[in-house]
Amino acid sequence: MEALDCIYGRRSIRNFTDEPVDHETLDKIVEAASYAPSWKHTQIVRYIAVEDAALRSRIANDCTSTFVYNGDTMKKAPMLIAVTALKGRSGYERDGSFTTGRKDTWMMFDAGCAVQTFCLAAHAYGLSTVIMGIFDDDKITELLEIPEDRELINMICIGHADEAPAAPKRKAVTDLLQYK
Ligand SMILES: Cc1cc2nc3c(=O)[nH]c(=O)nc-3n(C[C@H](O)[C@H](O)[C@H](O)COP(=O)(O)O)c2cc1C
Repeated sequence: MEALDCIYGRRSIRNFTDEPVDHETLDKIVEAASYAPSWKHTQIVRYIAVEDAALRSRIANDCTSTFVYNGDTMKKAPMLIAVTALKGRSGYERDGSFTTGRKDTWMMFDAGCAVQTFCLAAHAYGLSTVIMGIFDDDKITELLEIPEDRELINMICIGHADEAPAAPKRKAVTDLLQYK
């Protein structure tokens, strides 16, 4: 798939078929996402693929009180990805001090680069995704036993699309770009 077709064609999908996500394809997606740039090449992002039906159901039912709509979407997805990142690396010097005034927020920047690369790669391999930012962080962290040295960044629903929504309208380039 051409890069621009992939960028323009990827959509957030919230309805999935029952077809599972095969491990070989997910491996390829994660490998592609590993080519995302990262702070000093620290490569801090780690993925937890949740395919166990009972565990997915607990996440959807018990960990979405802040936005129940996301729980409804999660119930339709054959796999949930918990995106986590190693703490204390991105944005830091070796002596533990911050490199820039943005302090440790570079962790989120790295995760964003990796997650978009993940979603584009998924699209290129025929799978669909939706990124989720609203869920009960502490509950999912506990349920998935995410280690202390990692932080849960976001969730991704992944599977085969059962809908083909039009792209939400974008702002005009003139609103987005300024030359000086
Ligand atoms: C950081 C972030 C958080 C998001 N959180 C959610 C979410 O909690 N639930 C949801 O349904 N979509 C979520 N989205 C998806 C956006 O709503 C979606 O990307 C946007 O509407 C544009 O649609 P498109 O991805 O199809 O181009 C999130 C996207 C991003 C980048």
